[in-house]
Amino acid sequence: MTTTRYFRDFPARSGDRMLLKMEHYLEVYDELLSDWQGRDVSFLEIGVYKGGSLPMWQGFLGAGSRLVFLDIDPACRDLALPGTVVEIGDQADPVFLERIARDHGPFDLIVDDGGHKMHQQITSFRHLWPRLRDCGLYIVEDVHTSYWPGFGGGFREPASFIEFAKDLIDRMHSWYTEDDAGFPLHPLAREIGSIRFHDSLVVFEKRLKEPPVSIAAQDGKVTRSRKILEVRGRRSIF
Ligand SMILES: C[S@@+](CC[C@H](N)C(=O)[O-])C[C@H]1O[C@@H](n2cnc3c(N)ncnc32)[C@H](O)[C@@H]1O
Repeated sequence: MTTTRYFRDFPARSGDRMLLKMEHYLEVYDELLSDWQGRDVSFLEIGVYKGGSLPMWQGFLGAGSRLVFLDIDPACRDLALPGTVVEIGDQADPVFLERIARDHGPFDLIVDDGGHKMHQQITSFRHLWPRLRDCGLYIVEDVHTSYWPGFGGGFREPASFIEFAKDLIDRMHSWYTEDDAGFPLHPLAREIGSIRFHDSLVVFEKRLKEPPVSIAAQDGKVTRSRKILEVRGRRSIF
């Protein structure tokens, strides 16, 4: 994988619009998104503020990309650049999100850099994840607010986004337990390819998949099996 310095170098090239990101996200994005540079994709960012991220994403993604930004602040409407759309509404409003998805989805890349409150991050994820394409990424920034009571968080607070994301780790692995009643197979096991936790940043990768197989390979002969899913007599998988 080739790693560029596009994101790390961007702040020094920024114009008169303020960009507001934690610095280490830029290094993560250079690594995580290197294969996305110049690709024509459908992109959504929640949170515009002073509009500094619009030229960053526009300069990185392909010229044929569809770039949509949303913010609750009507003043952000004026920050749209040619070739981008800024929609005004509340990221915690399912009706608004439904309209955004209908008008602009499905998306390849979604970045939540909005209000960072628990119900906002969780509602947006619940309503937009189904509108993310296979192999797409859903990135949630500033998840340290999960530890801030003022944002609805707190250490091990069950309603926090971090706890919600930890629960999705369990859902991703729900192929593998024997507890059909208490921990049944969840549909997200077929959809989540990976969940990466960085400092303050969670990245969910969508991978539509069949129940996993294990392989035994010897002398070039490969045998595939789902025994690992069957050993505990689970009924809910097949
Ligand atoms: C951290 S700033 C966005 C920074 C911008 N993405 C950047 O990289 O420079 C957060 C933005 O989220 C917006 N916001 C707050 N609550 C929101 C909500 N419920 N729905 C949509 N946007 C919201 C704020 O108005 C603010 O402009």
